[in-house]
Amino acid sequence: MTAIQVENLVKEYRLTVRSKGIASSLKSLLMPEYRHVRAVDGVSFSIEKGDTVGFIGPNGAGKSTTVKMLTGVLTPTSGRIDVCGMNPEKERKRIAARIGVVFGQKTQLWWDLPVYDTYDLLRHIYKIPKPVYTRNLEMFSELLGLPEFFKTPVRQLSLGQKMRADIAAALLHDPEVIFFDEPTIGLDVVAKEKIREFLRTVNQEKGTTMLFTTHDMDDIEQTCKRLIIIDHGNKIYDGTMNEIKDTFGKDRTLSVEFSEPPGAFVYPGVETIDQQGNKLLLKFRKDDILVSQLVSRLAESNTIVDLTVQEPDIEALIREIYVGGIQIEPSLSGVG
Ligand SMILES: Nc1ncnc2c1ncn2[C@@H]1O[C@H](COP(=O)(O)OP(=O)(O)O)[C@@H](O)[C@H]1O
Ligand SMILES: [Mg+2]
Repeated sequence: MTAIQVENLVKEYRLTVRSKGIASSLKSLLMPEYRHVRAVDGVSFSIEKGDTVGFIGPNGAGKSTTVKMLTGVLTPTSGRIDVCGMNPEKERKRIAARIGVVFGQKTQLWWDLPVYDTYDLLRHIYKIPKPVYTRNLEMFSELLGLPEFFKTPVRQLSLGQKMRADIAAALLHDPEVIFFDEPTIGLDVVAKEKIREFLRTVNQEKGTTMLFTTHDMDDIEQTCKRLIIIDHGNKIYDGTMNEIKDTFGKDRTLSVEFSEPPGAFVYPGVETIDQQGNKLLLKFRKDDILVSQLVSRLAESNTIVDLTVQEPDIEALIREIYVGGIQIEPSLSGVG
């Protein structure tokens, strides 16, 4: 079942061009000149129910704009959006009952209300049945440690507490789809970890579809099964995490320590990146070279004391996609 479907989505912002000098200021007041910024430039994708998708890209790529259109906050310039079988912009009220939204930069809670009262208010607003409310509050309290700040007004919460409170608030009514815009921004490692673990649990237990934008590569690696990468308003990659690793992650580095300084190592397809003292750092492509063969060759003339093989980290792979991404044929993305 499809949870989110987007076809040829476009968003243009209209900016008034300001001119200098009184005469031209007057003119632009009477006959304003506009410049258009195409923040989203024909993006299409579809997301299955229960999927967890990272929506990533450099600053200004159009991520937040897309999330705002998907949640009915912004009207698209053109294109079609379907979320839970509805058009978000036309059915804002009905869709609110089926989705949850969390913006990392901005809390959706009431500033002066204690957290617990906020939840009680949400229960009435969303008409959440008592058993559902009680069950969810219990689960979220345990996983996110909410009770420690239940009585604290939202404005007194730390950034990490606020985010935990916000995420729980967005999920109290059991939404089918949840959108996050930078949910871990500004949080410390422990707080981030807690939130990621929470999201994984909710996804597994409730089958909630999740789409999130993030700058944090660990967020992506630990929470998302699939990645959609956009740049300058265009989709440049769409595929699973494993497909990315298979397509782009073919380089390996082998770091070896010998009992005595090794001589120069020459082997077809293997590049020496670094050589210092007893240590050697080699690079090769996993499809061309068998590690076992490489290691036995290295062991021929010297005793190996220590050895590790490393895969490139996901951050390096994504950087590679950003740089070369425009050339990736759409048919290539998704091919393992
Ligand atoms: N309200 C706005 N008015 C005009 N331009 C905007 C507005 N919001 C965003 N933009 C522009 O649209 C582009 C995409 O922005 P945004 O969706 O916020 O990107 P991201 O979330 O990927 O960083 C950027 O060039 C940004 O400057
Ligand atoms: Mg943004």
